[in-house]
Parts: sequence; structure tokens; C-alpha cells
Amino acid sequence: MKTIIEPFKIKMVEPLKLTTVEQREQALRQAQFNLFQIPAEDVIIDLLTDSGTAAMSADQWAGMIRGDESYAGARSWFHFERVLRELTGMPHILPTHQGRASERILFELIGGPGKVIPSNNHFDTTRANIEHSGARAVDLVIAEGTDPRNRHPFKGNLDLTKLEALIDEVGPEHIPLCMATVTNNSGGGQPVSLANLRAVREVCHRHGIPLFLDACRFAENAALIQQREPGQSGRSARSIAREMFDLADGATISAKKDGLVNIGGVLLMRDDALALRANDLLILTEGFVTYGGLAGRDLEAMAQGFIEVLDEDYLQYRLRSVAYLGEHLLAAGIPIVEPPGGHAIYIDAAAFCAHIPPSTFPVRPSCAPSTATRESGASRSAVLCSTRWILIPVRRFIPRWNWCDSPSRVGCTPRATSTTPLRRRSNSSNNATRSEACGSSRPHRHCDTLPQNLRNSSEPMVPRSVDRKSEM
Ligand SMILES: Cc1ncc(COP(=O)(O)O)c(C=O)c1O
Repeated sequence: MKTIIEPFKIKMVEPLKLTTVEQREQALRQAQFNLFQIPAEDVIIDLLTDSGTAAMSADQWAGMIRGDESYAGARSWFHFERVLRELTGMPHILPTHQGRASERILFELIGGPGKVIPSNNHFDTTRANIEHSGARAVDLVIAEGTDPRNRHPFKGNLDLTKLEALIDEVGPEHIPLCMATVTNNSGGGQPVSLANLRAVREVCHRHGIPLFLDACRFAENAALIQQREPGQSGRSARSIAREMFDLADGATISAKKDGLVNIGGVLLMRDDALALRANDLLILTEGFVTYGGLAGRDLEAMAQGFIEVLDEDYLQYRLRSVAYLGEHLLAAGIPIVEPPGGHAIYIDAAAFCAHIPPSTFPVRPSCAPSTATRESGASRSAVLCSTRWILIPVRRFIPRWNWCDSPSRVGCTPRATSTTPLRRRSNSSNNATRSEACGSSRPHRHCDTLPQNLRNSSEPMVPRSVDRKSEM
């Protein structure tokens, strides 16, 4: 299957400011190459992140209007709780304003000096919250997960031998929980298999260690299991997702990903005593337990998002769009982390820019703490780039629902394929953009910045002038 019809139609568009190559180069210079400093309005194709950039559906917007803003026990809370309980089976459901708020509460409760928290790969904010508590964050992804060219179908899997060795080394009493990030964002957006989750749970439970999911992209992980894991193709993504949650003792979720909303998060757990303490912290810093730092309308939008994200047509479209972009980048000779995962394409910048020594790689200045005033993630990424990876991944995230043509066509092709400008669904609170029309038989101006070898390629090309280093 080469192309796919988007399973949605559009009734609202958001205008884009079109800029010239010169204006974009000027914007880059003004930002001192710190991409977080560029006003979003000056970015034509914004692949900075998939986080909170989804366009919402008609039913989500309808839910926003229905939102009940009562302080305690609002109708929207009960709706949200019912949807999350059906989805995850977890008895304790705490709404938070985003994923890192769930992490902060969790690790304030179970972290601390002397504690060790393993995962496949901790996401930046998870690691930061663990370390902020005084605990140590350890990454135990399988070896295949660190090799960009390896096409193992589940490169997000945890290495069971390394997990057993860590438990032996530090003692289970020092490991308050083990995490599994699904999909594994810091490891190239790679999925974790059900078989691996079952095995990790078995090891953890044998040692009395709870297993928590970082379930930001649980639906995409479930869909990749459906596609890639033997024996799973006949199941619905919903039932696979439910089994993933059934294997876990709790979860942190940023609803800004597979919750399909612009803001929101969830903390889930089975342990009654832990949940009681988490509720106390939630009230202290987020809000009452039935709204958790959000408005009733946000809870409605989240509830609907968590239903819609498991739509099989949407998930098929989503994975196919990401894979399609990856295939065309590979065909154009651009090295990426293979195989494509569920939400982004990771360019192996160390291989792509092999002529630049890693120590002077341009992303480093762009990540320097001194220039990272808007988002501390920028400085964290320098660590990601320089020490934790041999490859230097530059992630191209794909915002959800935003494009009415495959995101693989962002950029341009010298071949005339269409005369229809790409448009994106409108969304009041996000700044993601639609691409330029790509139907021209002559290269667009921004393609002039491409290296000569790519300029002559007959494959779709991605304009380097809109490359962004992302940390989300
Ligand atoms: C795997 C993972 N965990 C946690 C987070 C943090 O979520 P938030 O940005 O909502 O705080 C992110 C955000 O990108 C993520 O990708």
C-alpha cells in the first residue's frame, strides 16, 4: 500500500504566513540557531513536536462547550473518569495538567536518594523528575534499540538480562518501580511488544517491584503491536491497549499525545495507599482531585480524545503516514532511525552530517542553556545528543490530524503531482502549520538550500531550511 485516504474531512482552516528563504535564514540567525526562540508564525512547516499540537475533532469541540465547570464532582469529571476506567481498568485516576505533573507527583512519592528507577529509555522530563527527587534513572533498552539501522520490530523493548542484573546489583528494595515508555520516544519512537511487557512484569513481580507505563503514546504502541507482533493482527487496538494497561500497576500519561488534546495529563495507579498520598499532592499543586489543574472542558476534550485515538482507521492512517515519510527520506538518501515508529521520524544527524564532528554539531549551540530561555528541554537535549547516543537523532514529529495530505509530502518534489495546496485543520491553540503547495513542476525556493545531490533527486525532498532540532 503506497498511499492512504485520510479518514477525516476539514471544515476549518488556519492561514499560514509564507516566508522566503531569506526571511527564514534571517529568523534562524536572529534566534542564534536556537529553534525554540523562533516565533512559530515564522515557521511554515512546524514539526517541532506532536505534543499538544493535534487538531481536535468536532466531537471534542462539542465536548468543550458541554464542559461542566463546577469546582468539585463536575459532570465532565465523571465522564472523563468513566472513559479512562474503561480504557485502562485502573481504579485510581488522577487528572493533571500534563505528563510531567504526573511524573513529579509520582517521583516525589516513591523517589528519593538511594532509589533506582529503570526504564527502556526515560523521557527527558521523567529523568529530570527522578533525578530531582534524588533517585537514579537507568536506561535498559535492548542493544538493537541503539542501532539506527537495525530493523528489529520492537526496538523499545527492555533488556531482561540487564534488568535482572540491575535488581541483583542494587537490590529490589531500592527499586520502587520499573517503567516502560510506550512508545519509546527517547529511543526513536520505537514500540514495546506485548511479549516484552509480559516478561518485564514477570521479572518485576517476582521481585515485588511494580511496573508503571509511561503511556503517552499507548495507542500508537498498540497499533504497532497489532501490525508487527505475531498473533496480534486479529485483535483490536483497544483490546491490545487494555492488555498493556492490565500488565501495569500504574501509568503516567501526557494527554497531549494520544489524548489528542492541547493540554492535559493523567496519573493512574492500582495501589490504594499510594493513590491517597498522590491525591494529597495533587490538591497541593494541581487542583482538587476531580479537576487536577484543568477546566471541565479540558476533561471533556480528553475523554473524547482517548476514545477517538483508538479508531482503527485513524491509527492505520497515522502509522502509514509516518512510515511513508520515513520511506521517502530513506529513498532520498537521508539516514533515519529504522523502522519508523508511531509519531515521528528521527534523522540520524551524525550520519547525515558526517562531515561535522559531533563536538561541534550545530544542535549543540542551539541547545546551550544560555540560549534556552523558553524551554528547559533545549538544554536537556544537548545531553541526549552528545552523551547518551552514538547517533545524534533529530526528531521530526508529526502533529496528529493536522494535514489533509500525507505529511510525507511536506517539503516538495520536483515532479508535478498535484496542484492542490495542502491545508491543515484549524485549531485555536496550536501553532502548527500547513505546508506550501507542492504541485509545482519547478523546485520551490526553499529547496534551493538543499545539497546538490538531493536537489537532483527525483524523490520528494525535505527543505533543510525548516529543519528543527526538537526536544519534546
Ligand atoms: C514519553 C514522554 N513522556 C513524558 C512526556 C512529558 O509530557 P508533557 O510534555 O505533557 O509534560 C513526554 C513529552 O513529550 C514524552 O514524550
